[in-house]
Amino acid sequence: MKHAKKHLVTAALPYANGPLHIGHIAGAYLPADIYVRHLRNCGEEVLFICGSDEHGAAITLRAKKEGITPQEIVDKYHQINKKAFEEFGISFDIFDRTSAAHHHQTAQYFFKVLNDKGVFEKKASEQYYDEEHQQFLADRYVQGTCPKCGYEQAYGDQCERCGSSLSPLDLINPLSTLSGNPPVLRATEHWYLPMEKDSEWLEDWITKGNLRGEYHHDSDNWRKQVIGQCMSWINAGLEPRAMTRDLDWGVPVPLKNTAGKVLYVWLDAPIGYISATQEWCRNNGKNWKDYWQNTSCKLVHFIAKDNIVFHCIIFPILLEKHGNFNLPVNVAANEFLNLEGDKISTSREWAVWLHEYLLDFPHREDELRYVLTSIAPETKDSEFTWSDYQARVNNELVAILGNFVNRTLVLTHKYFEGRVPPHGVLTEVDQNLVSEMEEIPMKVDRLIRSHKYREAQFEWMKLARLGNKYLADTEPWKLIKSDKERVETILNLSVQLVVNIAIAGSAFLPRTCDKIFEMMNWNAEPFDSAGKPNHLKPGHIIHDHSLLFTKVDDEDILKQIEKLKKKPDGNKSIGKKEVFLPEISFDDFTRLDIRVGEVIEAEPIKGADKLLKLRVDIGSEVRTVASGIAQQYSPEEVIGKNVAILVNLAPRKIRGVKSEGMILMAEKAPNNLSFIEVKSNDFKGSRIK
Ligand code: 2FM
Ligand code: ZN
Repeated sequence: MKHAKKHLVTAALPYANGPLHIGHIAGAYLPADIYVRHLRNCGEEVLFICGSDEHGAAITLRAKKEGITPQEIVDKYHQINKKAFEEFGISFDIFDRTSAAHHHQTAQYFFKVLNDKGVFEKKASEQYYDEEHQQFLADRYVQGTCPKCGYEQAYGDQCERCGSSLSPLDLINPLSTLSGNPPVLRATEHWYLPMEKDSEWLEDWITKGNLRGEYHHDSDNWRKQVIGQCMSWINAGLEPRAMTRDLDWGVPVPLKNTAGKVLYVWLDAPIGYISATQEWCRNNGKNWKDYWQNTSCKLVHFIAKDNIVFHCIIFPILLEKHGNFNLPVNVAANEFLNLEGDKISTSREWAVWLHEYLLDFPHREDELRYVLTSIAPETKDSEFTWSDYQARVNNELVAILGNFVNRTLVLTHKYFEGRVPPHGVLTEVDQNLVSEMEEIPMKVDRLIRSHKYREAQFEWMKLARLGNKYLADTEPWKLIKSDKERVETILNLSVQLVVNIAIAGSAFLPRTCDKIFEMMNWNAEPFDSAGKPNHLKPGHIIHDHSLLFTKVDDEDILKQIEKLKKKPDGNKSIGKKEVFLPEISFDDFTRLDIRVGEVIEAEPIKGADKLLKLRVDIGSEVRTVASGIAQQYSPEEVIGKNVAILVNLAPRKIRGVKSEGMILMAEKAPNNLSFIEVKSNDFKGSRIK
């Protein structure tokens, strides 16, 4: 198939009002990065654009909360996010910012062109105004009761309980979030985009890819839910939307007598894609028009689902009205990623922050890439849990990919001193391996180009699964004494497979694949060479090897779960799902020997006001246990109780007492404990299982 040779790829400009979390990464940046890396590996020209979205009420609200200026907020988060993207390995060509002067100029120029063409309708309206603060209130600055569900803290743009899209005038008992006073209505004027005029061509373009009679987009690969969401907007009837706002932070409206007015952030932000392209082109001696105004360059936007209307309806209308701009050939929008049973939320701090992950799991960027792609929310919301993260790293990256590469390298060093052996005649099992090795990369290519990253990565991992199966089936370690020639062939093919894994997979796991190339003493090759069974010639010396991945310990996972539990909502199950510890096997469980024991003596331990020293009769013997229950129970209260005691816990010295077991307690909160008791007296010594 012939592919476009020039691509412009954008990833949603993140608001510079907080750090990035794994939901952002899974939703836009990682799939975009895989797509871009893959196209580059295929030798195609790609410009990959992103930057900080630094305007809008989200920023000013955050600045107020932190007691600093909006500029200070965006300076802070722009740097944090830029650094996190770099360290994580998202390969933007430019990470620009919308507070930059060059962006302001481009956005103003764009607005003026549209205004001169008569695209906007200027209309007067009444909007809420805070008299104490002497300013108009952005939608987010008005809170009140939702008219649909009665929630009392709904915002002027949306009710966070029922999800309804609102206007501030819909709210019952509105209050200004600045002063807490009821706002007053005051007349203002704005420039509106009459979107209702554009429904027809939009529908044609979105559903059929048809624009001005040309087939203009990659219609086969548009995601159903993207088309569905657009059509529900169109069917509900598009309405005029104001393209200006009364706010003191943003791109000033470039017209006379408009003091205090700025461009709507959703007009200014997507123009950020254009201004960032221009900036990059200025710095690299290129012409930005080749990317935006030449249909041979294919534009793809990567976004999350809450951005669909802006990228598929509003921005395309603006581009069309301006004229001479390409519309996207695809808008790869993702659903949401949830975390441990609940929605990710910056304000509730229910998130795994990228910069913290990078600190807590150094050099494990590819592990996160792998897991987030495995669970990519491409067609429906999906969920990240720490135990799933651990399982995928340990059972897939370590046990499948790492294991195959490691075994191949170890055996090549052991039997052939690190030299690639020659191969002899191929048997059927070898031929099968070779044909899979050829076919899988082609499938990976097709899947990536149709934005099915999850499936693409799964397909790619099949190469490593096949490799393990091949070694298990052919058992070179058993043949080495009797049939060295056969072992030469097996290891020759295994080594070729390792190289192919790295060539075909470097868009998914770039650092791992670079490491493989280094170990193979081989340079990265273009993707179209993936599948060749003869990259490395016999005699080629491969380097010493090291492990590609190490297991993630229970302890690392526990730390992350504890971290989440400390968040404001962490101890409640947030009405949905509790956060559980990592899964254990049935065997792990059977190793716990828990018995029923009767407390026959109890006394305080000197100098330890939380501990009681208990003597517990477990039928066959009496155990001494130091138990942290003294702040809640007196010695008298516990004598005679039939409790659950873990009897095969290694003895520990606690405050001078040799403790020979542990009494199990239900813990609701610190110092709010309850024994696990057995009512009947006949069960002493019985196993609890
Ligand atoms: O939703 C968001 O995070 C927006 N800041 C995305 C903007 S995308 C583009 F229009 F710039
Ligand atoms: Zn509501």
